[in-house]
Amino acid sequence: MRICVISGSPKGEMSVTLQYVRFLEQAFPDHTFAVVHAGREIRTIEQQEEVWNGLLTTVRESDGVLWATPVYVMLVPAQLKRFIELIGTRDAGEAFSGKYTAALTTSIHYFDHTAHAYLHGVCDDLGMRYVGFCSAHMQDLEEETFQEQFILFFSDFLEAIAGRRPVQRAFPQLPAISSHYIPESPPAAVDTHGKRMVILHDAEPGSDLAAMVGKLAACYADPIQVAHIRDAAMKGACRGCCRCAFDNTCIYDDGFRAFWDTYVVPADILVMAGTIRDRFFSAAWKQFFDRSFFNGHIPAFKGKQVAYLVEGPLGYLANLREVLTSLVMTEEANLAGIVTNEPGDPGEIDAALHTLAERIVRLSDRGYISAVTCPAVGGHKILRDELWGGMRATFKADDRYYRQHELYDFPTRNYLRRLGTLATSLVMSVPSIRREVVKNMPAYMIQPLQRSIETSTILAKRKAER
Ligand SMILES: Cc1cc2nc3c(=O)[nH]c(=O)nc-3n(C[C@H](O)[C@H](O)[C@H](O)COP(=O)(O)O)c2cc1C
Repeated sequence: MRICVISGSPKGEMSVTLQYVRFLEQAFPDHTFAVVHAGREIRTIEQQEEVWNGLLTTVRESDGVLWATPVYVMLVPAQLKRFIELIGTRDAGEAFSGKYTAALTTSIHYFDHTAHAYLHGVCDDLGMRYVGFCSAHMQDLEEETFQEQFILFFSDFLEAIAGRRPVQRAFPQLPAISSHYIPESPPAAVDTHGKRMVILHDAEPGSDLAAMVGKLAACYADPIQVAHIRDAAMKGACRGCCRCAFDNTCIYDDGFRAFWDTYVVPADILVMAGTIRDRFFSAAWKQFFDRSFFNGHIPAFKGKQVAYLVEGPLGYLANLREVLTSLVMTEEANLAGIVTNEPGDPGEIDAALHTLAERIVRLSDRGYISAVTCPAVGGHKILRDELWGGMRATFKADDRYYRQHELYDFPTRNYLRRLGTLATSLVMSVPSIRREVVKNMPAYMIQPLQRSIETSTILAKRKAER
């Protein structure tokens, strides 16, 4: 069979992910693999029609399409995102429609699930027959147990093609949002209380997003900063070279760093406004996120209030919502709100923007950072373990930050707790005590919390103030 591999890595032949494809080539010598370097060649693909047509022919002539890409900032690299956008804008979906497909990623498993959900949704939208995915850790290929499973994954893909296996769509089609938002309510006069407020956007003139950005800015009595991300004057997308790992310096010498330092770093309140293109913000926004990787794994939004303005059907894109939320939560910032144009009713959008304008300043004044959920807690543990387990040899800047901020917070270091656990587990081996504990388990679980309530100085202070 002929397999068309769409490689998303900007590193081309030097891609880690591509080594997994090379493994498949050797494991399945009866099949041919034609690699389209969508990530490395995106500029040429954009500019040269014959290159675009040539790659579409490769897709058309294939029996199956394998997306092979690294995970970049919870999704695919901006270059592959751009490639997917081009399929839509150039109306080339027919080349992909009906093709059997599977996705292969390499990563450190940090939000690999959101990258896969995105790819799966895109494949569904293209009318492809999505068979499955393999999310490999970037070093998995070194293990023969993985190699065996990897062969099984690919065999299943080939069998699906050969047997014309019926495949169901997993992600429903996205509805078109019929909204033409023109603000109705007069400008408000919310006081920023001296907070530095920045709105970054990629709105096209006359769009709902442009109107939402304008309306939010008009909610404030004082002027706030509004900038189009195009003004970052990026010369290109992240190349994945990881030069930044040592000292947070990017290999590019362009306007991005100055833009970042002007708008993002000093902002107390940061609003990011984007239009949904396929199932994510635009490739331009993705490029912005990827380029912010020069910060490594240091939380660049720490302590800020963040909000999003979204044009498009966010309500149908739980995966996009998860990424937007997690981008904030994992950065130790607070997500103050998301306003979309989905309601269509200008009065409702006005009210949501006004509420956001007030709330975000209030939360900033109070220094509120919401409690985190599984993705942030789990994400921290993944990064902590990866850094400690080896990455810190090159990701020096991260290592310094993790040490300074005591983020290598392994429970194994808590010797007092370990002693306590040991003592408790020894006591629990006595049957009569165990029976007693089991009987009173709920009471034991809340005892320390009740003690905290009784001894809380915060509560005592509040009582005294009343
Ligand atoms: C800009 C950038 C962003 C990344 N973001 C993630 C991420 O969100 N999650 C993750 O698990 N790995 C992430 N990685 C690690 C890569 O996914 C991993 O190194 C991958 O194996 C690289 O594959 P490639 O050599 O084929 O490009 C990132 C790497 C870079 C350079």
